[in-house]
Amino acid sequence: METIRRTKIVDVLKSDAFGTVVNVKGWVRTRRGSKQVNFIALNDGSTIHNVQVVVDVDKFSEDVLKLITTGASMSVNGVLVQSQGKGQQVEIQANEIEIYGTADPATYPLQKKGHSLEFLREIAHLRPRTNTFGAIFRIRHNMAYAIHKFFHERGFFYFHTPLITASDCEGAGQMFQVTTLDLNNLPKDENGAVVYDGDFFGKQASLTVSGQLEGELAATALGQIYTFGPTFRAENSNTPRHLAEFWMIEPEMAFYDIQDNMELAEAFIKYCVQWALDNCMDDIQFLNDMFDKELIARLQGVLKEDFVRLPYTEGIKILEEAVAKGHTFEFPVYWGVDLASEHERYLVEEHFKRPVILTDYPKEIKAFYMKQNEDGKTVRAMDVLFPKIGEIIGGSEREADYDKLLNRINELHIPMKDMWWYLDTRRFGTVPHSGFGLGFERLLLFVTGMANIRDVIPFPRTPKNADF
Ligand code: 4AD
Ligand code: MG
Repeated sequence: METIRRTKIVDVLKSDAFGTVVNVKGWVRTRRGSKQVNFIALNDGSTIHNVQVVVDVDKFSEDVLKLITTGASMSVNGVLVQSQGKGQQVEIQANEIEIYGTADPATYPLQKKGHSLEFLREIAHLRPRTNTFGAIFRIRHNMAYAIHKFFHERGFFYFHTPLITASDCEGAGQMFQVTTLDLNNLPKDENGAVVYDGDFFGKQASLTVSGQLEGELAATALGQIYTFGPTFRAENSNTPRHLAEFWMIEPEMAFYDIQDNMELAEAFIKYCVQWALDNCMDDIQFLNDMFDKELIARLQGVLKEDFVRLPYTEGIKILEEAVAKGHTFEFPVYWGVDLASEHERYLVEEHFKRPVILTDYPKEIKAFYMKQNEDGKTVRAMDVLFPKIGEIIGGSEREADYDKLLNRINELHIPMKDMWWYLDTRRFGTVPHSGFGLGFERLLLFVTGMANIRDVIPFPRTPKNADF
């Protein structure tokens, strides 16, 4: 076969160099046709669209033709021509075909369109080859790019926080332990407690649930930083919105109060959504047509609206009024309760019909590091609540006062051996500062319109599931 420089299908489809010979490589999506002429839909992952390869059957041996089945990979040299068929601009009239790899129709699982998302989760190693998951993972890449771009343009520095840690940042105790000890033969003291001196780190260590505490160290030096990495939570939540391994973006800003923090969060999400609409429209249009007819309207909607800013106490009043008027929730509503996603979604979808930033939560249901309000009961927390998702961002202004922070740490019995270095940010040159965490997959749920978080990460980790 003649060597011709490969053109990606995304570029071929935009080309008008009719009459020239091009090379494309990809995987066969479908093959149809007659005795004389076959039409192959070829996809190389560069775009959701396939290029049509027209095969004059007489030009090729039956040995080659019989290998062109769904899933097979091949290289094609052919003449770029203007397409006669509707829905496509160009097609390629094949001169030469080289089959790279066959895909036996008897065993290749992705035969036809219309496999259920549940089935595709069982073959997560192959699902990126479907239109749906190709679209989702291209959008995922674009969102990661937009996030770095947003922060870089605003003078934030990308700061790498550790994945292995000896402190439990959120104080929630839902951490995966990291150890090299022999679990069948654990060293124990006279009380039966495991001795970690001989463990890899010489102490008990875990996978991080958040990079925030180290992020604060960086913010009180570099001014404005963000982290973007995987985090791990061993919470046994088998819901469509929880993963045991998920990616989080955590900006942390010196000299920001909670108002600045809310403004940044709103601008940040809007920037990402705008980026998706501007750069991923083919993929979003596909998902809109296939899964969620309101997706594009919803994305455009959040760009137009100002997010509501509402204290928790006001939010509880609205929910209590709803209950009084006969609305039923599965979980109870009262001041002090940690809101369930049905409550969050009521505020967003039914009451305000736009995103809500809920602030000033009871201190008992929030982490120790949040700035304490004068009322002694609430903290300067902010959760951003989104349609279809519920909580998409959690954050706060941080307690900058050493004594108040220390008191809270002691009240909650957080061990000082984990906290001394964090407290040093308040001991030396403390400043007002704020930050938040965006769940990357929650953002992707919103942007793709998918209903289950397992479908927006390539290889989901959930309770009882770590395949692939
Ligand atoms: O509200 P969270 O727990 O906040 C923190 O971790 C803070 N340290 C953030 C900060 O202030 N720097 O988590 C932040 C976000 C949530 O709003 C949610 O979007 C996402 O992370 N999240 C999860 N996403 C998927 N699966 C899970 N199990 C998640 N837990 C939280
Ligand atoms: Mg939260």
